[in-house]
Amino acid sequence: MTQLLLRPFAILMICSLAGAVQAAGNPEAGKTKFATCAGCHAIPGYTNAYPTYHVPRLGGQKAEYIVVALKAYQAGEREHSTMHANAFQLSEQDMQDIAAYLASFESAAAPYPVQGNVAAGKAKNATCIACHGEDGNGNAPIYPRLAGQYEDYLRTALQNYQSGKRKNAIMSGMANPLSKQDIADLAAYYASQPKGLVTVQQE
Ligand code: HEC
Ligand code: HEC
Repeated sequence: MTQLLLRPFAILMICSLAGAVQAAGNPEAGKTKFATCAGCHAIPGYTNAYPTYHVPRLGGQKAEYIVVALKAYQAGEREHSTMHANAFQLSEQDMQDIAAYLASFESAAAPYPVQGNVAAGKAKNATCIACHGEDGNGNAPIYPRLAGQYEDYLRTALQNYQSGKRKNAIMSGMANPLSKQDIADLAAYYASQPKGLVTVQQE
């Protein structure tokens, strides 16, 4: 009797384990698939042509967020023609593999100092901490890490939430009340955090 009751449960367990294995990304495969992305994302200091701001650091970013971001470019919820073109042909598995590869990089301090007022940013980050953490490394998988990201990219992202160029209900609500000065201060604070994102280095 016990055996009969246990068997369907065991089968369910096996099915859900198999599902988890299939969905998880393979970092080795992701490394190969990232080759087309490396021309922009694996070059320290590389910038977007117009408007000029740094191509975001992806090394150490959370896997779940990477997949969300790539899907947003595919769907056009995030407007950027180059990234739309690059994300367009990726399958679900490609995105999972690339995300697993990017998430595998170790944190490090950004190699150069920030321009803005770090202390002023720290004083203004109270509403951000719940999701992004005190140091820009929040715990929940869908909240991107901000620590060590390029300062001008963070400013651009916040401006894009305000203008609606980047559509996200949570973040437009958070960005709308910020002044230009608030944005500059917060970007400086998160960019300056020592346990931060790194530029991908492909050998
Ligand atoms: C021609 C340069 C270029 C190439 C090639 C490129 N990207 Fe990007 N990528 C950018 C720029 C610029 C941005 C910032 C766009 C914006 O402001 O939304 C970006 C943003 C991203 C983001 C969002 C990061 C964040 O913090 O939200 C991800 C993820 C990403 N790229 C992954 C990839 C992947 C994967 C590939 C290859 C399949 C790729 N990129 C190829 C220039 C490039
Ligand atoms: C309730 C949770 C929450 C709070 C609070 C919050 N954020 Fe976010 N943040 C998110 C989510 C979710 C995203 C990803 C949205 C998307 O996919 O575009 C995000 C994205 C961002 C990005 C873009 C990162 C990237 O890599 O492109 C920046 C910059 C940012 N937040 C800054 C802030 C700042 C500054 C505050 C405080 C004023 C704040 N956030 C408060 C949830 C939150």
